[in-house]
Amino acid sequence: MMQPIHIEHTSAPKPRPKASDIGFGKYFTDHMFILDYDDGKGWHDARIQPYQPITLDPAAKVFHYGQAIFEGLKAYRTEAGNLVLFRPEMNIKRLNRSNDRMSIPVIDEELVLEALHQLVLIDQTWIPHEPGTSLYIRPFVIATEDMLGVSPSKQYKFMIIMSPVGAYYDEGVKPISIYVESEFVRAVAGGVGHVKTAGNYAAGLKAQEGATLQGCAQVLWLDGVHRKYVEEVGSMNVFFHLGDKIVTPALTGGLLPGITRDSVIHLLRYWGLKVEERLFSIDELVQVQKDGNLKEMFGTGTAAVISPVGSLVWKGETLTIGDGSIGELAAHLYETITGIQTGRIEDPFGWRVVL
Ligand code: COI
Repeated sequence: MMQPIHIEHTSAPKPRPKASDIGFGKYFTDHMFILDYDDGKGWHDARIQPYQPITLDPAAKVFHYGQAIFEGLKAYRTEAGNLVLFRPEMNIKRLNRSNDRMSIPVIDEELVLEALHQLVLIDQTWIPHEPGTSLYIRPFVIATEDMLGVSPSKQYKFMIIMSPVGAYYDEGVKPISIYVESEFVRAVAGGVGHVKTAGNYAAGLKAQEGATLQGCAQVLWLDGVHRKYVEEVGSMNVFFHLGDKIVTPALTGGLLPGITRDSVIHLLRYWGLKVEERLFSIDELVQVQKDGNLKEMFGTGTAAVISPVGSLVWKGETLTIGDGSIGELAAHLYETITGIQTGRIEDPFGWRVVL
């Protein structure tokens, strides 16, 4: 039987941020969920409590060996007034794949779904209303045992925090510039690139700084072995619209199986378009751009939704994608995905989960 979730309501609700100021991940709601793990006891003491700092021993393993994973999903308020999650079961399954890869004990999926339901219900007034906004939900697990030996922690905390958000990029839905990284790599097959562990993001920061210096919003990673095949952007998967087909890098083990990626592939095929999941080299990408066959490039992700790419910087050269503005397909996908999420349009796949 699923363990109960104990609820302690805040007695000091926080002021809500102004819609024009929410940005991404700057403000947090009034409550958070916590579940503890102790060896021998399993996952226990599920609770929702007022949002507050936590205390950890300086020797907690997360600080030293990075045993930490996270997820990202969103809650929406539909025009009819329902509260909705988008494909949460996909996030919960990936959470446990990440847990398993990082030697963290898996968590009861039913309990995670119930925790998401209850937390969103309690903080439902934090779901913003303006177009392009939502409530971003960040579940994560950290290793808390205070012991410096390199071994799986015997204690963990699983927590869920939530933040009202607008667009992830400062550009909003305008096309971004992306820097193709040729020195650093993000991940290799057999490593941890296919799961959502904190270290993947820390490892990308150095290249991200370089990209910023080049005036780019993000880094496009190439595979770590051949340094040749396009993988992902770190905060998004990528799609290329070439001629009459859409190409996206195959899930070869070094990139994250995004839930928006999966949704986009489903939608494109539902619309009768040809989607190829395959190896796609930077040389092929440059060639199709030079031949004038690269109509669009866009990124997909929970935070980023559908994010058009206007140009790529590769080996000092700037390659403009299409005419540099948002492409037709990216715009249609953005409207459709956000429409399904917010109940504006029909959901033929049963992706909306009404709370
Ligand atoms: C997401 O899209 O939810 C992500 O986790 C990407 C990023 C904000 C780290």
